[in-house]
Parts: sequence; structure tokens; C-alpha cells
Amino acid sequence: MRVIYLDNAASTWPKPPAVKENMAEVIEHFAANPGRGGHALAMKASKAVFRTRVELSRLFGIQNPNDLFFYMNATQALNQAIKGLLKEGDHVVSSSIEHNSVRRPLEYMARTKKVELTFVEPREDQLYYAEDFERAMKPNTRLLAVSHASNLTGVILPIAELGDLAKQNQVLFLVDASQTAGVLPIHVGEMKIDMLAFPGHKGLYGPQGTGGLYVHPSVDLEPLIHGGTGSQSEAIDQPTTRPDRYESGTANTVGLAGLQAGVSFVLEKGVENIHAYEWKLTKQTIKGLRQIKGVEVYGPGEEVERVGVISFNIEGVDASEASFILDQQYGIATRAGYHCTPLGHRTAGTEQRGAVRASFGVFNTEQDVEALLNAVREIASAFQSS
Ligand code: ALA
Repeated sequence: MRVIYLDNAASTWPKPPAVKENMAEVIEHFAANPGRGGHALAMKASKAVFRTRVELSRLFGIQNPNDLFFYMNATQALNQAIKGLLKEGDHVVSSSIEHNSVRRPLEYMARTKKVELTFVEPREDQLYYAEDFERAMKPNTRLLAVSHASNLTGVILPIAELGDLAKQNQVLFLVDASQTAGVLPIHVGEMKIDMLAFPGHKGLYGPQGTGGLYVHPSVDLEPLIHGGTGSQSEAIDQPTTRPDRYESGTANTVGLAGLQAGVSFVLEKGVENIHAYEWKLTKQTIKGLRQIKGVEVYGPGEEVERVGVISFNIEGVDASEASFILDQQYGIATRAGYHCTPLGHRTAGTEQRGAVRASFGVFNTEQDVEALLNAVREIASAFQSS
């Protein structure tokens, strides 16, 4: 049975063939240590890592590629941003859709450094408005930290307006682009983003174990990790030069070479085209699911544009069981249960039962949507008549 992969919000799959080809090329020809040694293979490895920095900078409108630091995933990048910035007594404004990758480091800082937190709620239409974030600001607000889009309902936050708001209030602006990097246009300058955390393995079509953080040159963070950088080795402290200050230890050259191919693929297709395509599939899915008796879809209606993430439940069926049946009987891969976002589940009203989540990538088709709708229709009718 062909797998219909609808778990792209967790990790996109399949990957463009060039991702594998780039990775194989590094392994076969030059998997030396980047930035450690002047021999030809080490230089080739350094160049491969730098090429990825440059390609990502093109995508996000970053002026200096050295302001972008590589990590294993968005979670590590967010930890660096949050723990490297906040000091005792700071206040942070965030939102009620946050994933644990934002929420847990914030709560940790609240517990250990008396950082104050405010999580802004959506309005009745389930959308977030910049004015509500403005009302949450206080004299000691240091940071506005939000996800660009929900990993549960796909709802998009008004990032450009929030960037303006942050600047007007002299507050730093951190964006978690876990669900939007490669899917929605992001320009750090135009959107006034001070820090941007992103995964490489989702909308950028790179391999797992890749991700990064952009930090505006005026923002100095305390490094989270200390160690060898291949530069200023005689100094006992971390170098001040970027990216070395924030990248200790050997880089994931193989993975980053794969990520470069993923980013090139995205740039070639065009982010706007990717979003338009995924939104078409998403709309078709929301519409179809809403017509099935006993199915509840979370988030706003299909008139509100979101990223390609849809959560739903089937009456009388536990979310994990529904996802299991979809996988085992229909070959459809979805994610079920709690999606690392207790805040998001509370907001969506699914904190008691979790939800089944279907999420799209560029390789999905309208036939995949129809297959999901047919399967859900059959499951719903079987459980309602039993
Ligand atoms: N954050 C990823 C998800 O939402 C893993 O599934």
C-alpha cells in the first residue's frame, strides 16, 4: 500500500532528490571538519556550510549570513534565544498557541529567574490581534515571543504588525517559524524580526538534525553552549565573532549540505506558490471534513487562510485510535493525541481528548485529500452505527 504522508508539520517527507544527493556527495568526497584546519577537504566542508548560510539568508532577507547560527532544530534555537536573552525581572508577552519549545524555556525562566509571562488569547473568531499584544505590554517587557503559525490549527499570527508593535514599544521580537519557514514569506528586516528560530526538516525540506537562529547584529545573547569553535583557540572565553560565538563543536556538515538543497528547492518553487498550493489542499480538506457527520474541525472556518495544518476529531473515536486506523487500514500517516502544545489545546478546546492532525507538504495532491476524506467518512459512519 502506498503511504499517504500527512504528517508534514512534524517533518516533511519525501524530500527533493537533491537533498540526498548533496548529503551523499559530502559523505563520499569531503566529510572533513568545517572550520578546523586549512587543508583542502576542510575548506570544502566549510564552504558547504557557508553556502547553506547564504541560501537561508536569501530566503529570510538576512543581510549578513554570519548572523545566522546553526542548531539541531528550532527547539535548540529557541532555547538559545530565550535563555541567552532574559534576565531576572524581565516580562515576556507571548501567545496561547505556543508549542512547548517556546513555552517550556519561558516557564523555566519564570521559575528560575523570576521572569514574568503573559500569554495573549485569541478573540472569539479564534484569531490574534496586535492590539491585544499591545495591551499586554508593561514597562518591564523585554521580549515579544510568538509562533508565526499554530502547529495545531494552522492559524497565522499577524507577524508584520507585531514587528511594528515591538519596535514602537522598544521590545525585542522573537519569532518561532517552525510551521512557516519555507511556507510563508518571511523577511526579517521588513517584519522587524530581531530573532528568528526555524527547523530545517519541515518546510525547508532538509534532513532532521538541522535548524537555526537568526539574531540581529545589535542583540547580544549569552551563548548557551561553550566550547571549541576552531577560532581564537588560545582565549579562555567564547570568541565574540559571529557565528563562532554561538556555534561550538563540529557542525552537521552532511545535514546542512542537504538543507542547502532543500532551501534551493523552496526558493526555486517560490514560497508564495508553496503556500497557495498547500492552502488549496487545506481548504479542500476543511470543507470536506466539515461535511462529514460527527466530525469536528478545530480553528476558524475555511474562509480564514491558514498554513497546511488541520486538527479534527471523529465523534465516538479516540484521536489515537482514529489515527491508528487511518495508518493501518488506509495507509494514511497523521499525528494524534497532544501535539506538544497544551496551551494550543486549551485554546482549541481539545485539552481533554487531543486531536487527529493532518498536515500538508508540496508533494501532497488533491487525491491525497480525497483519500483522507473517504477514510474519515468510513470511520465516522462505522463508529456511529456501532
Ligand atoms: N513540532 C512538531 C509537531 O508539531 C514536532 O509535530
